[in-house]
Amino acid sequence: MSLSEEINKQYGKRNSKAHLYVNSPYVTAVQAELKKNCVLLLQKYFKDFSNLTVLEIGAGNGSNANMFEAIGFQLKNISFNELLEERIKAIEANYPNNKLYKGDAIRIEIPEKFDVVYQSTVFTSVLNTEDRINLANKMWHLLKPGGVILWYDFIYNNPKNSDVRKVNVQEVKQLFNKSTNSSILKLTLAPPIGRRVGKFYALFNVPFLRSHILAVFQKNAN
Ligand SMILES: C[S@@+](CC[C@H](N)C(=O)[O-])C[C@H]1O[C@@H](n2cnc3c(N)ncnc32)[C@H](O)[C@@H]1O
Repeated sequence: MSLSEEINKQYGKRNSKAHLYVNSPYVTAVQAELKKNCVLLLQKYFKDFSNLTVLEIGAGNGSNANMFEAIGFQLKNISFNELLEERIKAIEANYPNNKLYKGDAIRIEIPEKFDVVYQSTVFTSVLNTEDRINLANKMWHLLKPGGVILWYDFIYNNPKNSDVRKVNVQEVKQLFNKSTNSSILKLTLAPPIGRRVGKFYALFNVPFLRSHILAVFQKNAN
């Protein structure tokens, strides 16, 4: 089965639950924490975000563009990639003036390079190690010299969901081992706890209860 077929099969099963946690106190807290830490990490590499170009691979419905805009990027500088038909339609409807590269990100063939190539919870949907390596290499290839991979994904398995597989810190470092300048932060109160504690997110959000990492890997400037 190709990677595209695999992803279509997995997400066909998931759709029925996709709405459950939208706009909950937990999701709001997770997004605020992610936004704050993206700024903290990206500021180590760039002084001004307003002219930086971004490609988000596996962009879902594209809504992460709102976060980039909120932290100082310009919407016109954001490009998307997605392979699921329904999500492609959502991106086209929500961001009609932005570039969208449809299909498996591994197969993106374009001359353009970007300052930031972002992935958020895409790699944990890619179960096969070889596909992960090919996807990471493609992301690296799409970076300008001096540009950065921005990575947000979970580092522990979910025993109730065999359609996803963790990417631990060691594996992420290995995927981008050509980078000599990187930063990694642990964040996001693990979903089973975070959904229960809701608006008390900050009280429980201690490092050993966090399930994700936010990471940056820079490509050398020359
Ligand atoms: C868990 S969702 C996350 C969506 C979005 N990145 C976000 O943070 O909300 C993972 C997304 O990755 C997409 N995806 C997985 N493998 C992909 C691939 N090889 N190429 C393009 N998109 C892919 C899926 O279709 C899905 O929309």
